[in-house]
Amino acid sequence: MDRRSFLVTTGVAFAQAPSTPTAVIGVGNRGTYLLESVLAQPNAKVVALCDNKPDRLDKAATKAGAHSPKTTTDWRRIIENRDVEAVYIATPPHLHAEMAVAALGAGKHVYCEKPIGVTPAQVAAVVAAARNAKRVFVAGQQLRSHSQLSEAVAKIHDGLIGDILAIKAQRHATGDLPYDSTSGDWYYDVTKSGGYLIEQSVHNLDVCNWVLGQRPVRANGFGAIRLHKNEPPGRTIFDCGTMSFEYPGGAQVSFTQNVFHPRGMPHGGQNVLVYGSKGAVDLMYACTFYPLGAGEPVEIAAKRQEPAHAHTVAFFEAIQKGKAVPADVKVGAEAALTAILGHEAMAKGNTVTWNSLGVNL
Ligand SMILES: NC(=O)c1ccc[n+]([C@@H]2O[C@H](COP(=O)([O-])OP(=O)(O)OC[C@H]3O[C@@H](n4cnc5c(N)ncnc54)[C@H](O)[C@@H]3O)[C@@H](O)[C@H]2O)c1
Repeated sequence: MDRRSFLVTTGVAFAQAPSTPTAVIGVGNRGTYLLESVLAQPNAKVVALCDNKPDRLDKAATKAGAHSPKTTTDWRRIIENRDVEAVYIATPPHLHAEMAVAALGAGKHVYCEKPIGVTPAQVAAVVAAARNAKRVFVAGQQLRSHSQLSEAVAKIHDGLIGDILAIKAQRHATGDLPYDSTSGDWYYDVTKSGGYLIEQSVHNLDVCNWVLGQRPVRANGFGAIRLHKNEPPGRTIFDCGTMSFEYPGGAQVSFTQNVFHPRGMPHGGQNVLVYGSKGAVDLMYACTFYPLGAGEPVEIAAKRQEPAHAHTVAFFEAIQKGKAVPADVKVGAEAALTAILGHEAMAKGNTVTWNSLGVNL
């Protein structure tokens, strides 16, 4: 029996996942992690890598050495490369939209890191391109692939806590990114990162949208550089902010962020407390339901070992098996626009409406 007949007879050939020739653009912190997630897939095929910093490109090429990927410092070579079927985009946020639109236009499946854009126009361009392209598009809102969180959110959607009245959410950090870190060259420039809210809190705001099943109608807030004035020199991103978002039907989200929460002091980190007419759920850490009145707290989704690289698994299952993705372009767009809404409200110190962003989803 030749090798092919053996494989077919034994069914081994059917067990093999099809390969999807993949490229990664931007192999810094996140891009390296995403590259590892691709390499961990059965039958992975990394055909090309791109970064405009040659040292990072070399490091990534070594990591994927067994695949002998082509390397380039010019991301347009990736778009032109007909061998590439799927592209990961893990460059700084202000570059996502242009790269995603070009990749989708060239017929490639796209995994685009969050935020998918830092301006309403960028987000609108990605939405239009993803809808025209009819290719798989995944936004890097990977909390949507978190199984414990998904189970807890499903129970809230099933009515466990009654009507959702309000959410208190936050992202408090014990410090800023080191200025000389890989991301230090873009993170502190609000035109490149969008700021702390758009670049990082977009995850937490997405969880609020997910639980509520909608996006806000308006927001107001205040943001400022209170501690890290001109640190690093030229800094244009806030180091703290306080916002209120109002959702259709009246549910309210109050959100705070800062980068000066002392290490060890309680109530720091990331929290999403969801208040309903029957009680509240502490979503991010404990997935515990606290009933109103006399009842005892109940764990609604047990802590578990989350499957490795679940968001990348979902991306390939969508490409190879036609499954639905956990964070499609609408999820990515609504998350980015919610953060942009909050940022604009803080920047103006005024109420800003969703409709004024001018993006039709
Ligand atoms: N989903 C998550 O949890 C998560 C976590 C961290 C970062 N991120 C996102 O990933 C993105 C990258 O963040 P990071 O921390 O990896 O930043 P980083 O600075 O470490 O990496 C970005 C890389 O892009 C490269 N780059 C910049 N301009 C380029 C260009 N024109 N062409 C090719 N390469 C270019 C840089 O040289 C760098 O290596 C950001 O959007 C960030 O929000 C997501």
